[in-house]
Amino acid sequence: MAAGKGTRLKSKYPKVIHKIGGKAQLEHVIAAAAAVVPAADVYAIIGFEAERVRSVVNHTGVNFVLQAEQRGTGHAIASARHALRQYQHVVVLSGDAPLIMPQTLRALLAFHRENHCAMTVLTAELPDPTGYGRVIRKPAGSASVSALVEQKALSEAQGKVREVNSGIYAFAVPALFNHIDELTTNNAHGELYLTDMAGILVRAGESVMAMRVGDPGEILGSNTIAELVHLDASMRAAKTAELMARGVTIFQPQTCVIDNDVTIGADTIIDPSVQIVGKCSIGEDCRIQSFTVINDSVIGSGVTIKAGCIIENSVVEEGAILGPYAHLRPDSHIGAGGHVGNFVETKKTRLGRGSKANHLSYLGDADIGEGVNIGAGTITCNYDGVNKHRTVIENGAFIGSDSTLVAPITVGQGAYVGAGSCITENVPADALALARQRQAVIPDWASKRRATQKKNKG
Ligand code: UD1
Ligand code: MG
Repeated sequence: MAAGKGTRLKSKYPKVIHKIGGKAQLEHVIAAAAAVVPAADVYAIIGFEAERVRSVVNHTGVNFVLQAEQRGTGHAIASARHALRQYQHVVVLSGDAPLIMPQTLRALLAFHRENHCAMTVLTAELPDPTGYGRVIRKPAGSASVSALVEQKALSEAQGKVREVNSGIYAFAVPALFNHIDELTTNNAHGELYLTDMAGILVRAGESVMAMRVGDPGEILGSNTIAELVHLDASMRAAKTAELMARGVTIFQPQTCVIDNDVTIGADTIIDPSVQIVGKCSIGEDCRIQSFTVINDSVIGSGVTIKAGCIIENSVVEEGAILGPYAHLRPDSHIGAGGHVGNFVETKKTRLGRGSKANHLSYLGDADIGEGVNIGAGTITCNYDGVNKHRTVIENGAFIGSDSTLVAPITVGQGAYVGAGSCITENVPADALALARQRQAVIPDWASKRRATQKKNKG
C-alpha cells in the first residue's frame, strides 16, 4: 500500500518516496517483498502523485495498481481486487514501514498457512504504542484476534494494550474479497479501514490470528518526519555496526551517514561526521577524516582523505592523498599515489599515477599524465562561453604556479611552463614555455619617489 499522501509528514512529496538509509521507503519494502516472491508477483498500490512514485520504484520490476482516490487502507486493497484474484494468499505491506525483513514475511506466511487463517496480523509490543492500532486478542493471551482498534477509537481499557498492529498482514484471498465490501466509513476519518477486516472476518466465523514479530524495531512506521528520521537512524546504526563487525573503525558512528550500498574494507578508519552515500566502494587501510562527503565513488586501498573533501562520481586509486578541502566533481579519476590538495577542484579530469596538484587549482576536462606537477593556482580554461575543450598534459610535465592553460591545448612530455604563464599555444615535449611579460627593474625608483613626496609635503 503506497497510495497515501502522508498528511502528517507535512510534505508536498508522497510519504513512501521519502528516503531512509539513502533509499525511498517503498524501495525498502519492495526489496523485502521481492526477496520472498518474484517481483512479478509484487503489486504496488499507488495513487497520490502516482507517476512520481512509479518512477522511483519502476526499476524494481513490480506491478502497479492505481487507487485513484485514497479512501483508506481497506479501499486500497479493494482496488487491487482484480490483480490479486489469481492468488490463494496475499501478504499486505505498508509503504511506510520500511524496516521489515524478508525472513519475517516468510515466517508470517508459514504461520498463516499452518493455522489456516483467513487473516494473520503481524504484531509487536511497543513500549509506547501511541498512534498505532491495537490488537485485541480473545481471550487475552490466545493467538486469536477479535478486533483491531485504531488509536482514536480506543476505549480506556484498550488504551492499556501495548500490542500494536504493524499494518502488515497475510490474507486468504477468497475470504478477503468475499467480505471486503462489508467495510464501512463509520470511523474517525470516514475512511475504509483494512483493520476492520479482522472484526468482519471473525463475525463471519473465519479465523483471524496474530503473530508477534521477533524484533519490534522491524515494524515501526513513519507517519511523521520525526519518525522517519528515527527509522533512518536505526537503519544507519545497523549499517555502521555491520561495517565495524567487518573490521572498519568508525569513530562516533552515530554522526556518520553511510548508505546501505556502501562497502568498506577492513582497517579503514573513519572519523566522526563523514557521509558516504549512494553506491560506493572503499578499500582497506584508508583514512577518511571528518566532514568529508563521498557519493557514488570508488576509492582504492590506502587512500588518505583529509578533512572536508567532497567526492562525487569519481575514482581514486590506491595510495592517493586528497585534501583537506579537495573537490572531486563527477568523472574525476585520480591515479595511484596522486595528490589533490587544498582547494583543488577537478571535473572530467584524469590525473595520472603519482601526479600532484597540491594547492588552489581548477582542473576541468583535462588528461594529465603520470608524474606531472601542477603548480599552485593553475587553472585549465576549459570553457569558451559556448563549448568545453580539453587540456592534455603529458607525462612528467611541470606546470609553474599561477599558470592558465587555455584549452584546447597540449603540454608535451617533460615540458615546463614558467610560473604565471597564460598558455594559448601547444608546448612541445621538453620545451620551456614562458608566456608572461619580462620583469622590468627600475633602480632607486622607490627612494626617489619618497624624496619627491617629502618635498611636496614640506
Ligand atoms: C495503519 C493501521 C494501523 C497500524 C499502522 C502501522 C489502518 C486503518 N491503520 O495506520 O492499525 O498500527 O498502519 O503502521 O490501516 N494507503 C493507501 N491508500 C489509502 C490510505 C493509505 O495506499 O487510501 C497506504 C499509505 O500510503 C501507507 C499505508 O497505506 O503506506 C498505511 O497508511 P497510513 O495512513 O500510514 O496508516 P496508519 O495511520 O499509519
Ligand atoms: Mg502509517
